[in-house]
Amino acid sequence: MSVQAIARTPAGAVRIVDQTELPDALVTRDLDTVAQMADAIRTLRVRGAPLIGIAAAMGLVAGLRDERGAPRERFLARLEGFAAELEATRPTAVNLAAALGRMRRAAAAAPGDGSALWERLSAEAGAILDEDRAMCRRIGEHGLPLIPPGAQVLTHCNAGALATGGIGTALAPVYVAHEAGRRVHVWVDETRPVLQGARLTAWELRHAGIPCTLVTDAAAGALMRAARVDLVLVGADRIAANGDFANKIGTYALAVLALHHGVPFYCAAPTSTIDPATAAGDAITIEHRDGAEVTSFAGRAIAPAGTAAWNPAFDVTPARYVTGFLTDRGLVRPPFTGAPS
Ligand code: MRU
Repeated sequence: MSVQAIARTPAGAVRIVDQTELPDALVTRDLDTVAQMADAIRTLRVRGAPLIGIAAAMGLVAGLRDERGAPRERFLARLEGFAAELEATRPTAVNLAAALGRMRRAAAAAPGDGSALWERLSAEAGAILDEDRAMCRRIGEHGLPLIPPGAQVLTHCNAGALATGGIGTALAPVYVAHEAGRRVHVWVDETRPVLQGARLTAWELRHAGIPCTLVTDAAAGALMRAARVDLVLVGADRIAANGDFANKIGTYALAVLALHHGVPFYCAAPTSTIDPATAAGDAITIEHRDGAEVTSFAGRAIAPAGTAAWNPAFDVTPARYVTGFLTDRGLVRPPFTGAPS
């Protein structure tokens, strides 16, 4: 069974799995306000491209509960202020801006005052979550033929249930293969510097009973050279119209290694991660995070005090390295020009 990363509580708060607590403990937190949600996204308590879009939409609904009695214009003004606050948290994943755009449009198109608009937003946030869950499942089903019995899959970061509303993107075919009784083993890149692979992917695969082995990011080349990887499956934060895509730092290096060693390299993502408005990878804004993520570990310095660190959270992989884009609509190839639905 995969883990459920987000839910609405009966009281209308957003219940998240606090991903900074994993793998030590499965801790949930109930977030009531937009400020709490923005902080949770910024600090990676909730993370992963599809999940931060869902979380932002649900956070808006929770935060606007107190505005239900407001007249239309005041409600819309509060919505805009909250949406801008959430959108400013992380720049790279298109899902965040896209989900907030959807929420803004839903409210603008709905008639009525605060109470009616809030109901509409609540339904829209629910739809964003439900659609993501369904897209994850379809990615898994379309990806099943890529997973031969006994497959050795290498993945990077966490593009699993903890990153989405469903069974993940890159891990979705792995879950579906496992459900179908197909033997599959996952090599999990630890994913420096924040260790989403070690802390999250290894945790959720073990939670689901799927065999996996943790490797340092630097081990991927040796594994491929030893012919111990059948395919690489990674997620994406934004896929440009020409197929260049941003994903967790280290993805590009994996893609180069995979091409060199003749290992198929797939980018798995819902169509909501495709951004036709961004022509090519160079136009994707890459988030840079605090150098302390690199110079310290678990609160302890691992470099001399004052050491400079360059810490981009993502890199861009050019489309020519990608064997195929695995989406909820099947395997697709760029250019991606139409608006995603
Ligand atoms: O910084 P993070 O943990 O949010 O980065 C997440 C990734 O890079 C994932 O691979 C990507 O968002 C796809 S999640 C289905």
